Amino acid sequence: MIKQTILNLAVGILIVSCAGEAQISSTDNSGFVDSLMNEMTLEEKIGQLNLPSSGAFTTGEAANSDIAGKIKKGQVGGLFNIQQAARIREVQKVAVEQSRLGIPLIFAMDVIHGYKTIFPIPLGLSCSWDTELIEKTARTAAREVSADGIAWTFSPMVDISRDPRWGRVAEGNGEDPYLASEIAQAMVRGYQGDDLRDPTTIMSCVKHFALYGAAEAGRDYNTTDMSRLRMYNDYFPPYKAAVDAGVGSVMTSFNEVDGIPASGNRWLMTEILREAWGFDGMVVTDYTAINEMIDHGMGDLQQVSALALKAGSDMDMVGEGYLTTLKKSLEEGSITEADIDRACKRILEAKYKLGLFEDPYRYCDEERGSKEIFSDENRQFARETAAQTFVLLKNEDNILPLKKGGTIALVGPMADNKLNMNGTWSVAGQHDKAISLKEGITNVAGDDVKIVFAKGANIVKDAKLESRISVFGKSTYRDDRSEDEMIKEALEAAKQADVIVAAMGEASEMSGESSSRSDIELPATQRKLLKALLETGKPVAMVLFTGRPLAIKWEDENVPAILNVWFAGSQAGDAIADVLFGDVNPSGKLTATFPQNVGQVPIYYSHKNTGRPLADGKWFQKFRSNYLDVTNEPLYPFGYGLSYTTFDYKNLNLSGEEISMDGELKVSVEVTNTGTVDGAEIVQLYIRDLVGSITRPVKQLKGFEKVKLAAGETKTVEFTLTENDLAFYHHDMTFKAEPGKFKVFVGPSSAEGLEGEFTLN
Ligand code: NOJ
Repeated sequence: MIKQTILNLAVGILIVSCAGEAQISSTDNSGFVDSLMNEMTLEEKIGQLNLPSSGAFTTGEAANSDIAGKIKKGQVGGLFNIQQAARIREVQKVAVEQSRLGIPLIFAMDVIHGYKTIFPIPLGLSCSWDTELIEKTARTAAREVSADGIAWTFSPMVDISRDPRWGRVAEGNGEDPYLASEIAQAMVRGYQGDDLRDPTTIMSCVKHFALYGAAEAGRDYNTTDMSRLRMYNDYFPPYKAAVDAGVGSVMTSFNEVDGIPASGNRWLMTEILREAWGFDGMVVTDYTAINEMIDHGMGDLQQVSALALKAGSDMDMVGEGYLTTLKKSLEEGSITEADIDRACKRILEAKYKLGLFEDPYRYCDEERGSKEIFSDENRQFARETAAQTFVLLKNEDNILPLKKGGTIALVGPMADNKLNMNGTWSVAGQHDKAISLKEGITNVAGDDVKIVFAKGANIVKDAKLESRISVFGKSTYRDDRSEDEMIKEALEAAKQADVIVAAMGEASEMSGESSSRSDIELPATQRKLLKALLETGKPVAMVLFTGRPLAIKWEDENVPAILNVWFAGSQAGDAIADVLFGDVNPSGKLTATFPQNVGQVPIYYSHKNTGRPLADGKWFQKFRSNYLDVTNEPLYPFGYGLSYTTFDYKNLNLSGEEISMDGELKVSVEVTNTGTVDGAEIVQLYIRDLVGSITRPVKQLKGFEKVKLAAGETKTVEFTLTENDLAFYHHDMTFKAEPGKFKVFVGPSSAEGLEGEFTLN
């Protein structure tokens, strides 16, 4: 009878809105949520704040699990880590039919770079610099997962990181706030579309708010500590961009921000996020992040739960601190009922926006799922996408593209390796269905090419390290032969070949969560193999798999061709082969600087000049800012990437020498494809503010455009700069530009380009 309440409320709203001007608005719940909350007990409100992980129950078990018991008691607001429409339908039924009020659950999942059709890892996707393409990957993921019962993804992850030791650089968009903000917005648009009630769109969750990518020493979950100027100017922009794009939810980070863990940080979650940025969606904590405040030293479970609620964290992921302590805190007066109501209301509003009260099963569409999930069309799109994310780091003597003919020795632990293609955070991915490089080369070159395969080396030699990276169904395919035996076999293969393709790098789980590395070089056992292959004198093209920038100085000095392919997803092998054989010309550019060695880390293009900069072209000057044993240059700078063709930049033109605060400046350049094959170039615009009231970076990206150019073709690329592009946060946290001289650079990377100057009046 009580469940009738929800029905009545919903029908009431339909009638109200039909009588009014428009249909149900997805944002204005016309009193529905308030009316529902009037019916709820305190326990039921607290129950809505609880987000357990489902574990792995199968159909039939769900209704009898512990969680089902809680759902019946109204102690669960949502559930994550459960997939398949049938199972989700079954659990939803428990909530709708067996809990007192029948409030539907919201189902979530980490759909990070695809659901079943896996796209390249986010760091790879960012190297396409193609926001439309990235939006479409999110859209495709939303369509797949929404048919399978899930209406909420914990993505995008937009943590700026400048430390490749941190394994989660794989999940983000690199080091630059401008590019990362554009990508953040594209992903939110892709997931959420125009209307959350559309059953093919899902709610997005930007994470991890905030500064998670600045963990000290690149060690996951470690302390972060930075100035507010750096937060505002460099680390906050992508989160804010997602909020500006209308993201429905925000996830707290594990780390502390200015001395207070994010989940309990009222300044961050309320003053910045809600009051300054106007966010009106829901905040979910990261996994047990409330409980972890005990270890941070913020109090016992009751204290930290009260702290989190008051700070503005609405939903408690997994830890059940809210479920088990809030009632007591209320009785003791450390929180108010209004605090609970506020959080509960935001969660119910999210469910309302998703249309779950109208139809709790609207995201369970088996029929659509059977057509769309992992469809040929989606996989073809994944293949095309992946090819846009590869970065050609080196290509001496045009070793690449390979000819579709002759004999190729395909060597290395990543060559015949399906399970490691999807990369980190591909929870729903079917790793055994991914296309390996060996399969891809065969698919693309067919009988024209003879392939001789040898594994040549394990991914790492150390068995202990290997066991740590053999997780989530991703085996490293350990080979028990000795290093020498395996190398011998590889050399036999090389002997027969015209060219050697060396498929090497990290295993999928050497990056991602809890996968920090202090040594970011190619594992020694693989380098030993590589040396042996190079000694044959045959041409070697290295296909580098990695979830982070690696310190591959030795490889850069010794291997003639290196194609960086990240982890390219379901169709990895086909996409890599498309590029290796030149069916697709590589156009990706790095979004994170590659260091020469780990000692240079953190290293990023947008650094400050310091008071003692090194003179241009110098390696070392005593009493200047530099190292004794390595130059200040990166191995490969931000924005860098080669093509099978060449591009020339000419005629940088500024529409004037001056720009007023409310004016705009047009900056154009002519780009020519000077080679013999068609290609695409990512044209980048950077500025430098020469004098400021606070020190300004030596370069900042402020525009980019990917242009397709046929061989011989020239196009003019034009950018517009306004005050907003020149503005920055000041000591008093105001955002404005300062009059004065600026430099502008347009070119193929952060390290090269044509240069101009203008004055802002
Ligand atoms: C912990 C991770 O930090 C976060 O990114 C993820 O969304 C949650 N676990 C849920 O799986």
